Amino acid sequence: MKTAIYPGTFDPVTFGHLDVIERASSLFDKVIIAAAVNLNKKPLLKIEDRIMLIKSVTKKYKNVTVEKFDGLLVDYAKKRKTKIIIRGLRAVSDFEYEFQMALTNRKMAEDITTVFLMPGEKYSYLNSTLVREIANYGGDISAFVPEEVVKFLKKK
Ligand code: COA
Repeated sequence: MKTAIYPGTFDPVTFGHLDVIERASSLFDKVIIAAAVNLNKKPLLKIEDRIMLIKSVTKKYKNVTVEKFDGLLVDYAKKRKTKIIIRGLRAVSDFEYEFQMALTNRKMAEDITTVFLMPGEKYSYLNSTLVREIANYGGDISAFVPEEVVKFLKKK
């Protein structure tokens, strides 16, 4: 039984994240989406709302679950008894930061491996900050996030 963790802030979840989730769900027996509380990033959405939205847009993937996590990612992975961390690599610009994170995590927990998945190129430019900014100015975000997220952000 291969379980992988896909961590992130998901503020909010986007089509780019969903692309990675779909790929991970087809590769591993179980995928735990670990939504980081990540207060140092000052998220717009409360952790409960971020989790609710991820759950809502991933319900068709039967081997995907969503949980909140706080603290070190490697500690969380150990708690969940998995050795696989999934990260998306969108472009070369992601590489340096991801490389640093993967190697730091490996230094702290040698048996944990980070697996990189490339989302489809149509989402390679996307991040949650852009979505939040467009939504903040009343722009149309339906090309970037699922309908549930559009509705939620509109209400907000
Ligand atoms: N599609 C669209 N957007 C994507 C994406 C994809 N496939 N993959 C990443 N992104 C976006 C994210 O939404 C985020 O957007 P934002 O910064 O504009 O809000 C950005 O790209 C990536 O941010 P980043 O900071 O790299 O990752 P994250 O916030 O998603 O998650 C954690 C970072 C939570 C995994 C990391 O901080 C962590 O592990 N924290 C725990 C503490 C710890 O262990 N620290 C030591 C690490 S060595």
